[in-house]
This record gives sequence, structure tokens and C-alpha cells, in this order.
Amino acid sequence: MSALEEARWRTLALVASVSDADLECVHSPLMSPLVWDLAHVAAYEDLWLVHRYGKRPLLREDLAATYDAFETPRALRGDIELLDPGQARDYLTEVHARTLEVIDERGVGDGTVHEMVLRHEHQHDETMLQTLQLARPQQYELVGRRPDPESPRPSFTGLEMVEIPAGPCTIGAGDGGFAYDNERPRHATDVPAYRMGRTPITNATYLTFVESGGYERRECWSDEGWAWKEQYDITRPADWTADLTAEWRLGKLEPLHPDRPVVHVSWFEADAFARAHDARLPTEAEWEKAATWDRADAKARRYPWGTRAPVPGLHANLDQLGGGTAPAGAYPAGASPYGCLGMIGDVWEWTSTRFDGYPGFVAYPYREYSEVFFGSKYRILRGGSWATRTSVATPTFRNWDYPQRRQIFAGIRIARDV
Ligand code: AVJ
Ligand code: FE
Repeated sequence: MSALEEARWRTLALVASVSDADLECVHSPLMSPLVWDLAHVAAYEDLWLVHRYGKRPLLREDLAATYDAFETPRALRGDIELLDPGQARDYLTEVHARTLEVIDERGVGDGTVHEMVLRHEHQHDETMLQTLQLARPQQYELVGRRPDPESPRPSFTGLEMVEIPAGPCTIGAGDGGFAYDNERPRHATDVPAYRMGRTPITNATYLTFVESGGYERRECWSDEGWAWKEQYDITRPADWTADLTAEWRLGKLEPLHPDRPVVHVSWFEADAFARAHDARLPTEAEWEKAATWDRADAKARRYPWGTRAPVPGLHANLDQLGGGTAPAGAYPAGASPYGCLGMIGDVWEWTSTRFDGYPGFVAYPYREYSEVFFGSKYRILRGGSWATRTSVATPTFRNWDYPQRRQIFAGIRIARDV
């Protein structure tokens, strides 16, 4: 099976048990109808692989605007006419047949466009999992959930810290291999000594913050974060229920395992949590330095444990179709050389850094992939989640979202000055 076919199998497996009605409706104003994602994946493949790379006309010129993320923003996707689920699946199949013709005719070239199309589909799988988790449609069955690893004993809280010495480091993706435009150019920087959380913050630790009045302590919150919290009456993470504490104490709330990382928190909450613990969020340079070793030789050591991509279930909690987080610190084989655990996978980790281009940034292959999002509004997240496909979860990958967003599988790792 080729990588593109495997990606397609994965996408279709994700929605196999979802009814047509649940594919077509808007489950959350933040998300597209799932059927939009499906046809958008087809349209993107047709545009980049068949049309731009293969120099053939688009299969469906008439659908180009509907499935272009900018011409049809999320808020509109529920109100316009879309392909139905059967038509969307046919569109995917027909485009893939065209892709195979193009590959037969001209090969994959340097592979860049293929890798971009492949990773685009991977990223939409995670987007669709966010929608499915928000929706929890009745018929949705978790496929292929990986068995839970044991919680490490003693278990981690997220407040344990490792110290990372001062010194120059190199940030970003090198010249070889595929990377997104925003990961380049690779550049040197210098980071003073700092402490970094050994693991992400667990549910139990976050519960202590909630129960000790963390959401009422004005001094922990940024002005913007406080205004957001007050306006929407935010008192706990997005997937926690009102009487969580009581239910949890009664042992009823299985999914909120005390030792698992807290997830579905906004940047504002992550920032407030850190301040309440005399800490802060790491910068993205601190995050990347902590996640990789020997930055001078990053080609030889792309990942914390070497050159090879993580093996899901051995090094990291990644690439799951259903399921969720694993106990914090559950994959010691994936430890970074500084002893940080779970940097890749499990939960995306908010950083204090705003999304912008690295010095010397050049948009490639199109401005809308990342450049139009540069500026002050978006915050960077690093490391991938349990839902991220392995090839996308690299130590240099930069994700971004608004500081108030909680639909992503995002958690908290704290940092502190030495
Ligand atoms: C990198 C996750 C922010 O979902 O907007 C999907 C990925 N880009 N289609 C997004 C993406 C184009 C992107 N994120
Ligand atoms: Fe997309």
C-alpha cells in the first residue's frame, strides 16, 4: 500500500461508522461538517497533485471555491450546498485514480508536492477527530484504540521539573527532507538556563487548581484571558462536566483519569495555571531545545531518541483513531535526553510564542499555508497529540491557534526560570 493509499484508508476508517446525518451536520460552529473535510481533502489533492504538478485540468472546477479554505471559511460551510457523503467518497476515489495516472506519467519528482498532499490529509484526520470528539455522535465507534499503558509508579503530576543548561541551540528544519515553510530557515539562537516540566500537567493536578479557586484568582490571569473567562463563564476545561469533582470522587468519571494529561484547555487557561504555580509557559525555542539533542547534528538526530520517527505505542502516544491520552510519562523509551517525557504525542503543548515567520522566512508553496496567519493573534503549539499522525508530529512542526480555542487536543507543560 502506498503512503497516499494508507492515508486514504485511515481517513475512510475514521468516518466508517459515522451516519450520513452526522457527516452532514454542523456539530460545532468552530468546525466544518465532516463531509466538507472529506471533499476538501479530494479538492486539495486534485489541485496540487493532478492540476499543478500533473498539469491537468481540475476534475471539478465548479467545486474549487466551495472547498477552498479561504473562499469558504468554516462559518459558511454549514450553510451552503455541499457534496453528500456518497458524492464526497466518489470524488475522493476519482481524484485518487487521476493521481495514480499522474504518478505513472511523471513519477513523484522531488516528492515535495506528494508529501504536502499526504500530510494535508493526515492533518485533516486530526481535525475530523476534534469534530467527532465535540460531537460524540451516537453511532461513532472508536476503531483500533490502543490498549492503555500502565501509569508509571510513582506517577507524575506535571509539576516535576528538569533543568536545561544555558547555551546556543538551533531551531527549525534543516535543508534535507520535507518541512513546512514556517519551519525554515533553520537558525541559531541562544536560550538561558531554564526548567521544563518533565511531563504535561495531569488532570489531578489541574483539578487542584480548579478546586483551589484558580479561576477566581484575578492575579493569575492576563487581562485578555480574564475578560474571555468572564464573558463565557469558563470554570473548567472544555470536556469536564459540572459535577466532575463529585463524580470523580465516586469513581464514576472514567475518561478523566487522574494521571492523564489535562486536555482541551485554552492558552489563557494554560497561562493562568502556570502563573498560579510561579511558572510560565515555555517559549517555542525552549520547547524545541528540550525536545531534541545535539542540535548541531540534528540531521542525525531528528527525534529525541535518534533519527527514526517515533513508533506509536513505544516512544509516544500518537496516531490513534479513537481513544485519547495515556498516563503522563507512560512511554519512557521516548524520553528526551534532558529527561522530558511525552513531548511528542499525547497533547499539543501551548507555548508563550506568537506565530510568526523565522528570520528569512520564504512562503512555500503558497502564502495561505502559513504566512497569512502570522502576526500577533495566534499562539504556537508543539509536539502533536494522540490523534496526530506520526509523520506530522516532528520536533520542528509548528501548530497554531487562537488563545481562546479549546477544541484542539491541547494541554500544558510549564517552564520556569532558573
Ligand atoms: C496547521 C492545523 C493550523 O488546520 O488550519 C489544514 C493545517 N492547513 N489544511 C489548519 C491545515 C490546510 C492547519 N493547522
Ligand atoms: Fe486543509
